[in-house]
Order: sequence, then structure tokens, then C-alpha cells
Amino acid sequence: MAYPRSMPRQILVLNGPNLNLLGTRETDVYGAVTLDVILDGLRLFAGQRDAEIKDVQSNSEGSLVDALHEAKSWADGVVFNPGAYTHSSIALRDAISAVDLPVVETHLSNVHAREDFRHTSLVTGVCLGVVAGFGADSYVIALDALLRNLDR
Ligand code: DQA
Repeated sequence: MAYPRSMPRQILVLNGPNLNLLGTRETDVYGAVTLDVILDGLRLFAGQRDAEIKDVQSNSEGSLVDALHEAKSWADGVVFNPGAYTHSSIALRDAISAVDLPVVETHLSNVHAREDFRHTSLVTGVCLGVVAGFGADSYVIALDALLRNLDR
């Protein structure tokens, strides 16, 4: 028998560089939806699933590392779009390993259908899984997968 939890799941939705420009940035690749609209939709979805979201967006690698470190003390899991740092950041990979939280790597675009340098992710190997290529829906799919994993 499943018992109801007393507390909603706490989820960090973490976005890296240039994702604050969603809605105006390369709309042919990333769509016309702003990050705020994506987050509003995610909050609705989370509410239906007994989860709460805190979101952080930063263009700086160190702030993203700090947000992961802080999440260790309050979050049950992380939906993370590291943006271009996906392809370059050992520091973010190490931070994900260090905090030992389930992290779903999330991309709006299908990085494997784009330039070669986007085919390599330094973080995938320490993430629970990857969602890429579904535009704004990637975030909802990632959150759904994360919550299902936490409920298991
Ligand atoms: C991205 C893909 C990255 O390659 C790129 O640098 C981004 C966005 C995506 O969501 O599709 O900034 O993470």
C-alpha cells in the first residue's frame, strides 16, 4: 500500500547560460516561448503531481555550481538545462556527482541533430537521464520522469 507523503517533492529547475533569452533567441531552434512561460507551465504540472519547484537561471558557471550545492540541503531532484556548459564543464559534472541528487539533463533542441560539438555532453554520465529535442515540452517530460523515478 502506498502512503501519502506529508511534504510535496521539492525540485530545483536549473537553467544555464543564455536561457534567460528564450523567446527571442534563435527562435527557429529554441521556439518562441519564454523561460517564464515554461516555468509557469512546469509549476502547474508540478502542482498536479504533489511537487513544488524552485527555479534558478544563471549565465555563470560558478553560480550554477553553487545552486547545485545548495540544492543538496533542500531538493529531492533537479531538472537541469546546462546550456552550452553541457559541452564544456567538468565543474558542473563534478558538482552533480558531489551532491548525489537525481538530475535530469534537459535540452530544448535535439543536440545530436546539430553541430558536432553539441554531440558531446560532459554531464550525461552522472545524470539520471537525458531529455532533448521536444522544445518546451522537454522540461515537462524531464520533470515527469524525475518524479516517477522519485516515486519508485
Ligand atoms: C541547449 C543546447 C545547447 O547546445 C546550447 O548551447 C544551449 C541550449 C538546449 O536547450 O537545446 O544553450 O541546452
